[in-house]
Amino acid sequence: MDNDSKKALKLVFPSQSRTAHRPHQSLPTNRDRFRNAHSDSGKLQFSSTEIYDFTADDLLDLGEIGRGGFGSVNKMIFKKTEKVMAVKRIRCSNVVDEKEQKRIMDLDVAMKSSNDCKYIVQFYGAIFKEGDCWICMEILSVSLDKFYKYVYERQNQRIPENILGQITVATVNALNYLKEKLKIIHRDVKPSNILLAERGDIKLCDFGISGQLIDSIARTKDAGCRPYMAPERIDPEFSHKGYDVRSDVWSLGITLMEVATGKFPYPSKWASVFEQLYQVVQGPPPQLTRQYNGFEFTEEFCNFVNTCLIKEEKNRPKYQTLLQHKFIQLHEKLQPYVHPEVASYISNVLESMFNNGITQFTTDQVVAGAVCW
Ligand SMILES: Nc1ncnc2c1ncn2[C@@H]1O[C@H](COP(=O)(O)OP(=O)(O)OP(=O)(O)O)[C@@H](O)[C@H]1O
Ligand SMILES: [Mg+2]
Repeated sequence: MDNDSKKALKLVFPSQSRTAHRPHQSLPTNRDRFRNAHSDSGKLQFSSTEIYDFTADDLLDLGEIGRGGFGSVNKMIFKKTEKVMAVKRIRCSNVVDEKEQKRIMDLDVAMKSSNDCKYIVQFYGAIFKEGDCWICMEILSVSLDKFYKYVYERQNQRIPENILGQITVATVNALNYLKEKLKIIHRDVKPSNILLAERGDIKLCDFGISGQLIDSIARTKDAGCRPYMAPERIDPEFSHKGYDVRSDVWSLGITLMEVATGKFPYPSKWASVFEQLYQVVQGPPPQLTRQYNGFEFTEEFCNFVNTCLIKEEKNRPKYQTLLQHKFIQLHEKLQPYVHPEVASYISNVLESMFNNGITQFTTDQVVAGAVCW
């Protein structure tokens, strides 16, 4: 029996097994209040005409495809239609109050009705189950963090600039769409939230409910590892100010520089939050140069990345200006011609990953650029 079939037989619903061992409590905990406030059922919407009621029991778990700081992502099948999805489960019982829950369920409705941007991962629906939020979404082949680490560290190659161009076009358009159409700000732009598929798709994920929940958790707890955060978000003097899209523009600059050079642009490990604060807030911003780490880059790409990495928030542009940048304009024009090339590049790397034993279920790939403490 192959690994996938073994995993397919294993029905893992950790939150169910947890309740079985929970001791009887006479006073309701936050967790109980949270659970009582919501039913475990919701709606899955695959298209404007394909809408189904569902609970966690309607999903078959095929195994974990990734784990982040706030929960895990599993490949699951909606049994009724055999639709394969990625399901992200976020532990949020002690964080989300009634008002927040209402906001999240409003987002669920708003996000389902807006699947007309080809650069964002399609959202199918969310449910709350015993204090966990289950977010069902379109599944892609691989995230950009796993992909780029494989290219630089295992293949000893780089990601060509025409591919970086398409990644940039997709991400800026996705962020602009979220802001303009859904009126939401991403808040967590980084390589693991950009996904790729062998047919050449490049899509942004973890906005909306996921972004909202993670931001709430990060604000109430010591969230630790948030290495893509803009200086104005880290600096206690300014962090009380509301969130501005320009903080996401900074995170995009760090992301592009990391993916273009194969290395996170700050030292690979900060010893503490204070060190991060010192380097990001006090130090100069990272800057990409025409020759960097032994790789060559065009003037336009360097200028685009360095524009995203302008340290002063008020001088950093928003999406309308970025979309006019020469680098974006060039790669947007090239898109129809290079799409087949992008698709074959991604599928060749994926094939090589697969041949070297790295599948969708490989969650423990060596992480060279990770900055956590
Ligand atoms: N829709 C999806 N399709 C395919 N893989 C996915 C999808 N969503 C997430 N993944 C995989 O699951 C991994 C974990 O995702 P998750 O969002 O939980 O954490 P993260 O983005 O790595 O970090 P953090 O928790 O700090 O946001 C990702 O790195 C990615 O490889
Ligand atoms: Mg993520």
